Amino acid sequence: MIATPTPVQPSYDRAAWAKGYRTLSQERSYWIDEVEGEIPAGLTGTLFRNGPGKLEAGNEPVQHPFDGDGMICAITFKDGRAHFKNRYVETEGYVAEKKAEKILYRGVFGTARSGGWLKNAFDTKLKNIANTQVIYWGGKLMALWEAAEPHRLDPATLETLGLENFDGKLKKGGAFAAHPWIDPKGPDGEPCLVNFSIEAGLSFTLNLYELNLKGEIVRQQDHVLPGFAFIHDFAITPNYYIFFQNPVKFNPLPFVLGAKGAGECIDFEPEKSTRMLVIARSGQSKPQVLEAKAGFVFHHANAFERDGKIVVDSICYGKLPTVEPGSDFRSTDFATLMPGQLWRFELDLNTNQVDRKMLVSRCCEFPVVHPDYVGQEYQYAYMGAGLATEGNVPLQAIAKIDVTTGTEVLHSCGPDGFINEPIFVPSGVGDREDAGWLLTMVYDGVRDRSSIVILDAQTMTQVSRLWLTHHVPYGLHGTFTPEVFI
Ligand code: CO
Repeated sequence: MIATPTPVQPSYDRAAWAKGYRTLSQERSYWIDEVEGEIPAGLTGTLFRNGPGKLEAGNEPVQHPFDGDGMICAITFKDGRAHFKNRYVETEGYVAEKKAEKILYRGVFGTARSGGWLKNAFDTKLKNIANTQVIYWGGKLMALWEAAEPHRLDPATLETLGLENFDGKLKKGGAFAAHPWIDPKGPDGEPCLVNFSIEAGLSFTLNLYELNLKGEIVRQQDHVLPGFAFIHDFAITPNYYIFFQNPVKFNPLPFVLGAKGAGECIDFEPEKSTRMLVIARSGQSKPQVLEAKAGFVFHHANAFERDGKIVVDSICYGKLPTVEPGSDFRSTDFATLMPGQLWRFELDLNTNQVDRKMLVSRCCEFPVVHPDYVGQEYQYAYMGAGLATEGNVPLQAIAKIDVTTGTEVLHSCGPDGFINEPIFVPSGVGDREDAGWLLTMVYDGVRDRSSIVILDAQTMTQVSRLWLTHHVPYGLHGTFTPEVFI
């Protein structure tokens, strides 16, 4: 299945792209004045986004953007207007490093304290950088990072309130992954938030959590499973949780000795199959394990049940994208990396067989679907995509994929625009699956400013573009809530 990297004539300016990885130090709050088109009158609510906003401490840069400190952006839509606010998550590490003006913690992706490996040896304490996702659920706004507890924030001011442990149900130091799903119709018939955590080791423990509308953990199960797990995301259906255990091995020695970050000690084994773990949401039965070649998967678009099978749509890489120790991620040569591509896996629970096919060969990432179709049979996935039809390139377009046919419609923000994850917001008008808007933060490498692009998801044409007065560094994930906090 694995496509080899194909040299692609760059249609983009790499220097312009790289400028999007600059720290945004200032925290701001203002109404957005520069608006192309009109903000839809029916668009009310808040788009929260998280991502690494600070990419150094003093003069010491992080080794990988995933090691940057989490910064939250809140874009509020109300009465045809939009308000922007950004603020850092004041984690213990962020506050300490800002004061010290140097790196005090090692990062998972190779960021080291200055002084060489001796200074880093046997220091396995990681910083909870709270930089991956932000979600408003059960009256709580939470910044998520997969290896530690959520940070709770004030949704109006974005002020950091402290660590969230869900009335003690999350143990101290316990993790809560950065990829919760909201099941539109949980076991009680009401929406519920479903998430997991991993305690890694030579075997690993997978913890599963379901939270009710009040934000309380109401269902919980855990499984001890063999092997090393590097699992960032999962998928859900009404009856199952589905995990792809990527074929990797972990050699902790260089990490413990201080020579490498933990993330750099993971070796991808492309010749091996992925273990697909299917776990029933009710009860505590043993996971069913299926195997198939799937490359490396960070993100799943969606999953659903059909005729005794589970269909899972996922973005697969032929090789784990890594940053070489000592290299600068801003000078990434896109052509040497494998593209992420959308694949469909059909897991037959009766025969244990897995069928797979590629849906989209164009490089793509950050898939999303209409929130009412999470875990349900669906037609459309939306994601960031490259403008070249093959090979690995930066994401410069928003793609709408009809997953029943593989047909794609692209909205290009190139050649100057570089995009983040799109978020689908239902318009509530009519019952078409694509009745809604796509909200995407786009960095313009020529104007050196970011904007929020609003597309009509049905036509994939631009409805409005809201220009910020500054840039926002490339982010990771975000969510939308119809609540307004201004
Ligand atoms: Co992710």
